[in-house]
Amino acid sequence: MRHQGAIRGAAQVVVVGVDARGMGLIRECLGTEAVLPAASTAYHQAREAVQAGHPNVVITGFDMDFEEAVRLGPLLQAEIPGLQLVAISERTDPERIRSAMRAGYREYVVLPEDSALLRQAVRESDLGGTASADQGQLISVVGSKGGVGATLLACNLAAELSPVYRVCIVDLDFSMGDVAAFLDLQPKSSLQDLMTGLTRLDSRMLSGSVAVHPSKVHVLAQPTELLADEHVSGEQVLQVLTVVADAYQFAVADCGCRIDEATLTTTAVSDLVLLVCNPDVPSVKNAWRRLQLMEHQGIDKGAIRLVVNKWRKDTELSLADIEKSLSVPVAASIAYDDETCMAAINAGRILRDINKRSPVVSDISAMVSLATEGAIRVEAPRSEKKTFGWLFK
Ligand SMILES: Nc1ncnc2c1ncn2[C@@H]1O[C@H](COP(=O)(O)OP(=O)(O)OP(=O)(O)O)[C@@H](O)[C@H]1O
Ligand SMILES: [Mg+2]
Repeated sequence: MRHQGAIRGAAQVVVVGVDARGMGLIRECLGTEAVLPAASTAYHQAREAVQAGHPNVVITGFDMDFEEAVRLGPLLQAEIPGLQLVAISERTDPERIRSAMRAGYREYVVLPEDSALLRQAVRESDLGGTASADQGQLISVVGSKGGVGATLLACNLAAELSPVYRVCIVDLDFSMGDVAAFLDLQPKSSLQDLMTGLTRLDSRMLSGSVAVHPSKVHVLAQPTELLADEHVSGEQVLQVLTVVADAYQFAVADCGCRIDEATLTTTAVSDLVLLVCNPDVPSVKNAWRRLQLMEHQGIDKGAIRLVVNKWRKDTELSLADIEKSLSVPVAASIAYDDETCMAAINAGRILRDINKRSPVVSDISAMVSLATEGAIRVEAPRSEKKTFGWLFK
């Protein structure tokens, strides 16, 4: 997993004691440069939030409770040495500024005037400082649109890795997650159960929550019953992913095709993002939109691998067409084999156990090198001009 809780080139931020207006100003100022929480934390919960979230930066409001904000400075520094502390206020008062500095705050900002200062402080935070060297790799599997095969690929890639590595699939499709069904598992507890007990979350609690498939793949599943209007914050997801990445060598996140806080956060902290599309125009169009979004998020292009699933010789678009349209090389193509895939899904088994001679099995097996050679970089084909026009005609 990339920096514990940090986007590539962006920092993980905890905000303390700031009202809704202040949160809006911070959001406006930092945009995609930082992973921001959905809401501010109360002063009395700040230490807990820092312990759980391992941020690079804490922005503390000085207007709601000045004394509490000053008192927190050294306490938060003690939690994470080198933590970047920023004071935020609506007032410039020399005495307050001095108190903030004495309490370890690196900057004292008034927004929107000091936006550049805040951005600078966040950029200079020690992004690498909180990462754990022992953390496993986090691989996000993202569908360019519904039904492209994200879940099937996530499950079967994990199954290919599992003879050698400790692997856990995290089902992040909060509306219709079906990893457990694909693997015929009846999990006793779910990702949601973990999220409700985040303050107690550790590897022991995690191991009590995963379901284990005979292939040795572990699964952190969605609940069997559908939950209406489930909002999950990026911070909650980060906490779970951090514990999973500490416990496993590979965490494979099935992000489906939804764009929500959970999946945006997950792709941002992934070592590898497998963007899955099919060789048809709507799917490739959406892959392009997704690539734009990821670029906007600041995700390094070198961490993204384009995977073309359901590939047949007679498909509408060739691999070369797709590469040309997206200006991204196809890192893997997975053959179309409806019969084997349907049989595997209906039986809740992995593809290899249904038909190990299927080309879909050998293609997914070849994808293992994408995961294990995470450091390889694929150069995008040169494109002098935008090549996407022809596809939209
Ligand atoms: N390589 C393949 N060959 C043939 N059929 C495939 C292939 N990959 C996936 N499928 C089929 O596509 C359908 C959708 O697969 P899957 O549920 O994995 O997609 P998804 O992207 O997770 O969809 P959703 O958006 O519903 O989460 C399934 O019926 C599956 O059998
Ligand atoms: Mg799915």
